[in-house]
Amino acid sequence: MSDTNELLSSARAAIAGAGDPASLDAVRIEYLGKKGKLTELMKGLGSVPPEQRKERGAALNQLKNDITAELERRTESLNSGALDARLAAEKVDITLPPRPAPDGRIHPISQTIDEIVSIFGDMGFVVAEGPDIEEDFYNFTALNIPPEHPARQTQDTFYLNVTSTSPGATEPSPMVLRTHTSPVQIRTMMSQKPPIRIIVPGRTYRSDHDATHSPNFHQVEGLVIDTSTHMGHLKGCLIDFARAFFDVPDLPLRFRPSHFPFTEPSAEVDIGCSRKSGEIKIGNFGDWLEVLGCGMVHPKVIANCGLDPAIYQGFAFGMGIERMAMLKYGIPDLRTFYEADMRWLKHYGFAPVDMPSTTGGLAR
Ligand code: DAH
Repeated sequence: MSDTNELLSSARAAIAGAGDPASLDAVRIEYLGKKGKLTELMKGLGSVPPEQRKERGAALNQLKNDITAELERRTESLNSGALDARLAAEKVDITLPPRPAPDGRIHPISQTIDEIVSIFGDMGFVVAEGPDIEEDFYNFTALNIPPEHPARQTQDTFYLNVTSTSPGATEPSPMVLRTHTSPVQIRTMMSQKPPIRIIVPGRTYRSDHDATHSPNFHQVEGLVIDTSTHMGHLKGCLIDFARAFFDVPDLPLRFRPSHFPFTEPSAEVDIGCSRKSGEIKIGNFGDWLEVLGCGMVHPKVIANCGLDPAIYQGFAFGMGIERMAMLKYGIPDLRTFYEADMRWLKHYGFAPVDMPSTTGGLAR
């Protein structure tokens, strides 16, 4: 039996001498592998006289178990040694000064959308979205803008060479790049039961291009539909919003009668400002600045969506996001929003770790 003892002590020495997982594996193969030392002894079992075979077999099995156990112990200690070495090497010195902020910035349009959504979110609105490529029905017809209505021309619509047949229509009509976010009002009223309270940020398109107009711009739409919402709610909601967004608690708002085909009555909303030496300041300074359109949703629009206007009513509003961002953050030129100029973005953009909030990033 001394050959098994010999083998065990030589295996122990080899295992102890293996300094890393690869050499330990080589030792395993040397002893337990197909042509390993222990395997060779096992093969010899057949030539052992039958009366000794049982004892010899048990001894060899024991030897195998012992070597396997030694290998496992060594693997564990090598691994924990490796872990200790890694922990030592990757130690973080928390007393070092913070690194400079990364170069990336949140674009003012994204930041402004986040701020607007967070204010209306606090009031119980949820975000809704619709497609940029829209059907004529949702963009115009269902919003009570009939085919010959001047809004279809004055809005300078981009028409596509693709047609679709809208709900209730017999003829296909060209698809459009949506000229406003208002079609999402229709999509929502046609797919959800009131009460509805949505806020809709998104891209919009018109074929304008000058210092204050870009062919691609952004709007936010709001819609509230239930059985009892009235114009007092519309006013209160927009007053609270504007004061929170511009962070001016006594900001005056003025509701001027206006016209939109999809609201009745309709209003345009002005906020207080001053324009001394060409610079616009938001606040209670005696002058006025238009910021958004709104009104009570027209009964025809409610009926166009399959809802009963004798039961349901509510309000809607729409505003330009670039305009809101320019006013809040003092950005003078609309075109700079889309130039992807890193110097501009470093100046007007927001650090990625800034949480969007009602006063997010306000520099005062
Ligand atoms: N869709 C209008 C536009 O693009 C803005 C607007 C005005 C939206 C009044 C509304 C609203 O929901 O009630 O000019």
